[in-house]
Amino acid sequence: MTKLLFVCLGNICRSPSAENIMNHLIKQAGLSDRITCDSAGTGGYHIGSPPDRRMALAARKRDIELLGEARQFQRKDFENFDLILAMDRDNYRNILALDNAGKYKDKVRLMCDFCQKYDLKEVPDPYYGGPEGFDRVIDLLMDAQAGLLEYVITHEKSRVGGQESI
Ligand code: 4NP
Repeated sequence: MTKLLFVCLGNICRSPSAENIMNHLIKQAGLSDRITCDSAGTGGYHIGSPPDRRMALAARKRDIELLGEARQFQRKDFENFDLILAMDRDNYRNILALDNAGKYKDKVRLMCDFCQKYDLKEVPDPYYGGPEGFDRVIDLLMDAQAGLLEYVITHEKSRVGGQESI
């Protein structure tokens, strides 16, 4: 089983979108017994909240239902997940700030590293902007998740029977 964790700031816009889009692709590919997803925020302001309504609306336009409840990233997530995907560089830095010994650096990646069509390095924070920002997040994540799924399928073979990190 490969375990993926998507991380943004509030866990109400970008990372729940990433999680639910990936779950959609995993189901479509018939891989639900091999890959699992979760999401979290580096901040704690929205703990327990459902996904942002503007974000849910943008996702629903693409037939993706946003499920989940915000939680904060914790140190134990480093152990519990195989790959941790940060939406932007601030998230990336804040995650690694909790890895004092630098033990988990290879597990933490920027989400946009897996984009195939888009050239952006970060998933922009849509929270204080207009509706187009939320649509943009979905477009970017559709692209990045397709790339990530390919990566996981290719790399999980090398993990079977071994301790190798993907
Ligand atoms: P997210 O978006 O990190 O994609 O969930 C945000 C949610 C809330 C805030 C900022 C970004 N906030 O400042 O409360």
